[in-house]
Amino acid sequence: MGNLEIELLWDRIADALVDTGYIVLDDIVPDDLLKGLLVRLGQLESDGMRPAGVGRGQAFHQDQQVRGDHICWLSNDNFEEQAYLLWMDNLRQGLNQRLFIGLQDYESHFAVYPAGSFYQKHLDAFRDAVNSHLPRRKITTVFYLNADWSSELAGELIIYDEKGESILEKISPVVGRLVIFMSDKFPHEVKASTHNRRSIAGWFRGC
Ligand code: OGA
Ligand code: MN
Repeated sequence: MGNLEIELLWDRIADALVDTGYIVLDDIVPDDLLKGLLVRLGQLESDGMRPAGVGRGQAFHQDQQVRGDHICWLSNDNFEEQAYLLWMDNLRQGLNQRLFIGLQDYESHFAVYPAGSFYQKHLDAFRDAVNSHLPRRKITTVFYLNADWSSELAGELIIYDEKGESILEKISPVVGRLVIFMSDKFPHEVKASTHNRRSIAGWFRGC
């Protein structure tokens, strides 16, 4: 993708975040980056993923009735992970230039949901968070890494309206699909699937 194309893409994402608060994009992440991430996740899956927890600090624990995924945080120590973090940092800067939102950093983890596991309806950030001087999650990204996925395998991401009542979107986790939404606006859940379900979940944070 050339510079102009990239700028237009950032425009499109910024406009959607203002208008509806979310966007679903297919095949916009460069192919070599996608391929590298598929290989990297394959390596991690044999011995690098740990059960995800819920709650913060002292309250942190594992609860398969809330979420059943296994995760591994991305870092700059690995080439493929670094390439993804760099791509997301460009998006971060593009959004900062277009929206006066002050995104400071980006954190992300690979996630594998074993067949039958799910993540109950939740918000990624709270609207009236205390400690407003601390960076918190502002924009969520989810990038899917399931080659040969089809709708019969389920595992959809369900996005609800702000009240958490009606369904806005049912998104199948097909390879190359990127979902971006305002973290404090949309309750969402991950439905159980019949096969392992792979993704990278990430969050732009700011104050
Ligand atoms: C999360 C999450 C959605 C997905 O990790 O917080 O909501 O589709 N993931 O994997
Ligand atoms: Mn979430």
